[in-house]
Amino acid sequence: MSTERVLTGITTTGTPHLGNYVGAIRPSIEAANTAGAESFFFLADYHALIKCQDPALIRQSSKEIAATWMALGLDTQKAVFYRQSDIPQIPELTWILCCNAAKGLMNRAHAYKAAVSANEEAGEDPDHAVTVGLFSYPVLMAADILMFNGGKIPVGRDQIQHVEMARDIAQRFNHNFEDLFTLPEAVVDDSVAVLQGLDGRKMSKSYNNTIPLFLEEKPLRKAINKIKTNLLEPGEPKDPDESTVFQVWAAFASESETERMRDEFANGIAWGEAKKQLFELVNNELADARVRYRELLNDPEHIERVLQAGAQRARDYSVPLMEKVRAAVGIGSIVG
Ligand code: TRP
Repeated sequence: MSTERVLTGITTTGTPHLGNYVGAIRPSIEAANTAGAESFFFLADYHALIKCQDPALIRQSSKEIAATWMALGLDTQKAVFYRQSDIPQIPELTWILCCNAAKGLMNRAHAYKAAVSANEEAGEDPDHAVTVGLFSYPVLMAADILMFNGGKIPVGRDQIQHVEMARDIAQRFNHNFEDLFTLPEAVVDDSVAVLQGLDGRKMSKSYNNTIPLFLEEKPLRKAINKIKTNLLEPGEPKDPDESTVFQVWAAFASESETERMRDEFANGIAWGEAKKQLFELVNNELADARVRYRELLNDPEHIERVLQAGAQRARDYSVPLMEKVRAAVGIGSIVG
């Protein structure tokens, strides 16, 4: 069993933005395309159901996220790239893991706890609008990971707890039945930037401060012009380490270009000029992929074929492992 297998899921509830690109998509594609890497990336559409009751939005987001990874050059022949809901063994395993996951452990999951404390603050019943789906979200995530013996799980900080829960559940299963599951580990890469958004806080859909990844040139220029700055005039020295414009610059520029911009800030570059250069830098990096992205969105049948081929490869792993799991817990054929 490989412990180096990299696996991660992307919930299909939004349009990818620059923060997703810099923080997750770009490093994952780079890692996946490296020789010797074994990567599993999937669209977590069952997870989307937990927070989204809009079927059109989930479908659109699935299409956009798949097109994004493909447009940015993920080698889908090499990485296993699939949609969670195309792998029926995942919900099947989820049930079996549910029967091996302590309810007390799930009570501590932060997504559930956050919902409960929001209710308590609002004077509502603690479980108001909390679904069993939200409560057991970490078990579904554990099934995603354990189904493919994922070893390294690149995630944001908010997901570390869930990976630890998957590890806990795997340990319990291995102990109670048979040693079938690799114990996964969260990987949080501190060297990749957590990008700031238009208002200077972390770029996040929930803060409504994002720059969508594949905006056309004009709206991209406009969005970059909206990044918050202070009132310093041209010629007045500016502090790069206090500036979102500089922070985004550094996420896209080479080291030497970053140093040059640092000097420009010290020399009092005008905000308008800094933003103009930032637009050019970001636009250059994304322009070709943006064209491919539009082409892909116009050809959903092609995206679907790629996802189906990926699902087929994923099932080559999930079907035999699920058979072992069923046998280990005593369900299925009574013969033999
Ligand atoms: N829950 C994760 C998120 O919201 C997405 C996800 C689903 C995931 N299944 C996963 C991440 C398995 C890593 C491994 O970001």
